[in-house]
Amino acid sequence: MEHLVSSWCNDRSLPESYILPLEDRPGMLPLGKNIPVVDLGAHDQTDILQQILEASQEFGMFQVINHGVPSNLIDEAMGVFKEFHALSAEDKAIETSKDPDKSCYMYTSSHNYATEKFHFWRDGLLHHCNPLEKYIQFWPDKPPKYREVVAIYTAELRKVGFRILEFIAQGLGLNPDHFSSELGENQVLLVNHYPPCPDPSLTLGLCKHRDPLVINILLQSDVYGLEVFKDEEWIGVEPIPNAFVVTLGVLMQIISNGKLKGAEHRVVTNSNLARTTASFALHPLYETLIEPAKALVDASNPALCKSFSFKDFMIKYRAAASYGTAFEELLSGTPD
Ligand code: OGA
Ligand code: NI
Repeated sequence: MEHLVSSWCNDRSLPESYILPLEDRPGMLPLGKNIPVVDLGAHDQTDILQQILEASQEFGMFQVINHGVPSNLIDEAMGVFKEFHALSAEDKAIETSKDPDKSCYMYTSSHNYATEKFHFWRDGLLHHCNPLEKYIQFWPDKPPKYREVVAIYTAELRKVGFRILEFIAQGLGLNPDHFSSELGENQVLLVNHYPPCPDPSLTLGLCKHRDPLVINILLQSDVYGLEVFKDEEWIGVEPIPNAFVVTLGVLMQIISNGKLKGAEHRVVTNSNLARTTASFALHPLYETLIEPAKALVDASNPALCKSFSFKDFMIKYRAAASYGTAFEELLSGTPD
């Protein structure tokens, strides 16, 4: 906890441990390229499905607008997320250490701070969300409205997540409820905070990675930072007011047997504005077996990998210092 970037960033230049090798530093981006934006409020459901499918195949990432989550709820949620990260380090420590089983905690950089070669310019608050009755008692109750607002916010995001999963399942030719029981029931909120950085050209908020989940619904603030890697170049994800960024994770790539793509992405920092984002992850339950959907495996489309439990996958993902670890590497030697 004493390492949180927000606790020391104001009075120091960029420490050496945050300076990345040349090839990993953010560089110039191609102009005029954007990721798809899908209007979930449109009438033609077949068209929505088609757009989601294409974006999932090509980018593994897209934005959604008119998703049904009220803008005042989004503003209130972003408000409490920012207030939380503005608390003193001591308060943050108290507010995130109530559960001995660690369903709510804070960390900085990656989960491998002690062993990683380089650090990243990010503090994170992570907590489980479902079932709410089990976990809400361990959430921060500073700022005072945190629990009330975030309970409503995460319930709304769950609806958006399952609606998108339904479209994806249909697009893949699977039963529309393929993801609706075990595969998305373990929901986790990660509230990222990237303070202003003394030298954004030398470091990253998060290095290139794929998320270890089925899908993620991200609320970016109005501050730029997220970039996705496509066809060997980085594309910036433009902040759109009240939109969510949907990212497909490694597990979706596996379940779809490679038909859809888990997006590789990273976060850049900037020198004058703090950036706060909230990732709402739909994960499988820990004991759930992950495998390519049987309907998508045949003689010409052999299974990408064997089946494994989500729990075993997470152990491997974390141990691999997953940031920067290639997809193939993550899968090789995955426990049977
Ligand atoms: C993540 C992530 C993007 C962002 O939390 O895995 O990629 O913009 N976040 O904060
Ligand atoms: Ni990510």
